[in-house]
Amino acid sequence: MTNGDEAPRAPRWRLFVAADIDDAARAACARVADALRAKDFAAKWVQPENYHLTVAFIGAVDESRVAEVESAIRDAAAHASAIDVPLDAVGAFPNERRARIAWVGSHAPQPAFAALCGAVRSALSALGFVFDRHTDAHVTLARAEGRAALPSVPAPKIAPITVGSLTLYRSFTERAGARYEPLMRFALGTPASGPGGDGANAPPGPSSG
Ligand code: 2AM
Repeated sequence: MTNGDEAPRAPRWRLFVAADIDDAARAACARVADALRAKDFAAKWVQPENYHLTVAFIGAVDESRVAEVESAIRDAAAHASAIDVPLDAVGAFPNERRARIAWVGSHAPQPAFAALCGAVRSALSALGFVFDRHTDAHVTLARAEGRAALPSVPAPKIAPITVGSLTLYRSFTERAGARYEPLMRFALGTPASGPGGDGANAPPGPSSG
């Protein structure tokens, strides 16, 4: 319902912060998805170009606050260091017997990844955003249509990925599925050089996926 007296609602952007994965990891994740499909796991499949490790799901943000969000992430990233994350397991949330989300992730807990998530979320919490506590490193492959058991498929055998930067994405919900637009990339461990002179962080280039 619209009312002529109401101020127009500010546009809101759906945002999240993610670590990108390299091509070898992307291909390995896609092979796991192929194996699950071959075993008739019924799900909506994430396009391999959209594979990522979520660090902080921010949700809807007034367009006018996006610069503040970028600045908070830049600050957290500058104080963090690059980390390695093994992608050596296939699993499901909430569990493998009733799989809602199928993923490739880490077999063992990853305290460095959890700390990175915590640092970014804490910087954003200072702006009033609220986060869940979930910090398991995982790449979502599929969202199940039912609650079937996750078929057993081989885990990827690849070197750990190195997370050296974070990307702020804007998410668009479209007919064909989600589309993620990279807005800004933040190098880890690179202090910003000051307002306007920030050479370390940049809008992502065309190869960013
Ligand atoms: P995921 O990390 O389990 O894949 C963009 O939507 C990303 O943010 C997805 O990768 C998604 O889940 C993650 N995410 C975390 N919490 C979310 C929420 N409440 N709604 C939508 N996406 C969320």
